[in-house]
Amino acid sequence: MCSIIGYHGDRTAAPILIKCLKKMEYRGYDSVGISTQYRNTIITKKKIGTVSEVNKKMELDKLPGKIGIGHTRWATHGNVTDINAHPHTSNSGKISVVHNGIIENYIEIKNELMKMGYKFYSDTDSEVIANLLQYNFEKTTNVKLSIMNTVIKLRGQYAFITILDNKLLAVRYNSPLIIGLKDNERFIASDVFGVSAEVDNIIYLNDGSFSILNEKKIQCYGFDGHLIKYTLSNIESNILTVSKKHYQYFTLKEIFEQTESILQVDIKSINELAKIVSNIKRLYIIGSGTSYNAALIAKYLLSKFCDKIVEAIVAEEFEIFQNMNRNSALIAISQSGETADVINAVNMAVNANIHAYTILNIPTSVLAMKCNNIAKTNCGLEIGVAATKSFTSQIASIYILVGKMIHVKFIDLHYVSNLISTILKNELEIQNISKSLKNIINIYVLAKGIHYPIASECALKLKELSRIHAESMFGGELKHGAFTLIDNNTHVIVINPQDDTYDDMVISIHEIKSRGAKIIGVSNTYNKLYDYWIKIPNVRDKIIFPLVEIIPLQLLSYYLAIEKNLDPDHPKNLAKSVTVK
Ligand code: G6P
Repeated sequence: MCSIIGYHGDRTAAPILIKCLKKMEYRGYDSVGISTQYRNTIITKKKIGTVSEVNKKMELDKLPGKIGIGHTRWATHGNVTDINAHPHTSNSGKISVVHNGIIENYIEIKNELMKMGYKFYSDTDSEVIANLLQYNFEKTTNVKLSIMNTVIKLRGQYAFITILDNKLLAVRYNSPLIIGLKDNERFIASDVFGVSAEVDNIIYLNDGSFSILNEKKIQCYGFDGHLIKYTLSNIESNILTVSKKHYQYFTLKEIFEQTESILQVDIKSINELAKIVSNIKRLYIIGSGTSYNAALIAKYLLSKFCDKIVEAIVAEEFEIFQNMNRNSALIAISQSGETADVINAVNMAVNANIHAYTILNIPTSVLAMKCNNIAKTNCGLEIGVAATKSFTSQIASIYILVGKMIHVKFIDLHYVSNLISTILKNELEIQNISKSLKNIINIYVLAKGIHYPIASECALKLKELSRIHAESMFGGELKHGAFTLIDNNTHVIVINPQDDTYDDMVISIHEIKSRGAKIIGVSNTYNKLYDYWIKIPNVRDKIIFPLVEIIPLQLLSYYLAIEKNLDPDHPKNLAKSVTVK
C-alpha cells in the first residue's frame, strides 16, 4: 500500500529518491518523507501531502548525502499526520526505517521496548522496527545479526529498508521488494516501475530474505543467515516504455489500451492451466476488488459449461472454507500478485495440501512464487488505481480457459479487440451522458446471469473513479427491498444486451420506470424505455457480451470523475496494491 525506495551510489540520493517516489505514488499517497545519511548523521524530513506538494514546501530533494531512503504512505496504523509519516528514526537517531506492510505484534514489542526505556513518538507499527533494530545492533554491533534478531520477533507481512551503521539494507517478508543496479549505484524499491529509468538490472529478492548493499557488493541472506545466490534479471521493455502518452490520465490511456492488451493474454499458459484443472471436481476461485468480479464470471462459465462445483469467494473470506475436499483446487485471480488477502488465502490452501493456481498479470510477484501454475494475462503495467485493462484481460483468459476445457472456442481475441475499438469511437457520446449525470449521488446497476459480474464491476468503477454511491443488483432482486427507495430522483443503469436475459430485464425496467426512475440502458438495441442509451455492438456469439459491455461503463465512470473534477488516477483513500490485511 505504501511505496518504499532506497539508494546508495555516487550521486546525491535525495533528488533521485523524489523522482522514483513520484513514479510509485500510485501505491499510496497520503504523506511523504525521506532520510539521508550525511557525514555520519541521518537527516529526516517528512510531511502529509503528495510528493510534489511536500517537496515544494520542504525541499526534500535538497538534502545532502549519497545514501537515502524514502516513502509514500497509505495509512494503516495511526492517522494521516506528519509524525506518523515515514521514515521513522530510532531513539539514538542513528537508524532510519521506511516500511510497507503490517507488524501485527507491534504493541507487544513496543511495550517490551518501552520497559527498557525506549520512547515512541508516532502511532505507527513501523516505529518499533527502528527501535528494535537499535536494541539488537547495540547488543551485537553486527548488522547481519541485528537484522536476523529483529525479524525473528516480527509477525505480519512487511518489506522495509533501513539505514543502519552507514549501510543500506532491504528486508522482505510477504511484501514486494526488488533491488536495482547500475554501475556503482544500488536501488531498493517496492516495484520495478519505480526505478526502471535508473537501473540496468533487477534482483527479485527472495521472500523471507534480506540484503546488505554497498557500491561494491550486494549480499543476500535468508532469515536464518545463510547466504543466498541471486540472479540478475533484465527489465522488461514494456515497463521501460510506460508513459501517459497524449492522455491526460493513465486511467484513460489504460481504457484505450484494451484493444491491444487483450491480444497479449498468454494462451499457452492458459491452456496448460485448463489441462490441469479439467480433472478437478471442485474449484475455489478467489480474488479481491475487480479480480473478484472476474472470479464471478469464471464461476458462471465453469458452472454452466463444465461439470464442476465452483465457489467464487472474496479472498478475505476464504478462511471460512476449512474443509477443503481432496479433489479440489484454488485459482487465485490477481493483477498485482501482491494483494495480502489473496496471498493469505493461497497460503491457507497450500497448508491444507490443496494446489493453488493463479491467473495473474505480474509473473514476478509474491503470488507467482506461491502458486503451482500461472496463467499469464500479460496486460502490461497498470498504473491507474482502478483496474480497467487488467479486468478485460482476466475475463478474456477465463473465456479461453473454459473454452479449452470443453473444446469450444468462445472468443477470437482479434475480433474482440475490434469490438472494443468500435465502442471507444463512441467516447464523445459517453462523455455527453456523463455531463447529464454528474450530479447523481446514488445509482443502481442492474443485470442478470453472466452480466451481473459486469454490473458489480461497473458499481465498483463508479465508486472508485467518480465517487458515486453505486449498488449492483440482480434485476428481479430489486423488488425484494430496494424498490422502496425508487422515485423520480433515482437513476438505474440496466445492462441489457439482446440475449436470453433481455426479456426479464425489460420487465424490471417497466417496473422501475413506472416508479419514476431514469433508465440508462446498455444494449446493442434501442428501447424507448431508455432515458439514455449506451450503445454496444452486436456480437457473433452472445456469451462474450460481458467483454464488450464493461468498456463504455469504464468510460462513463472515468468521464463522471472528470466532470466532478476528481483525479481518476488517484482515487481518495485508495491504493493500487493492497499489501495489508
Ligand atoms: C485494489 C485495487 C483494485 C484491485 C484490487 C485487487 O483494491 O485498487 O483495482 O482490483 O486491489 O488487486 P489485485 O492486484 O489482486 O487484482
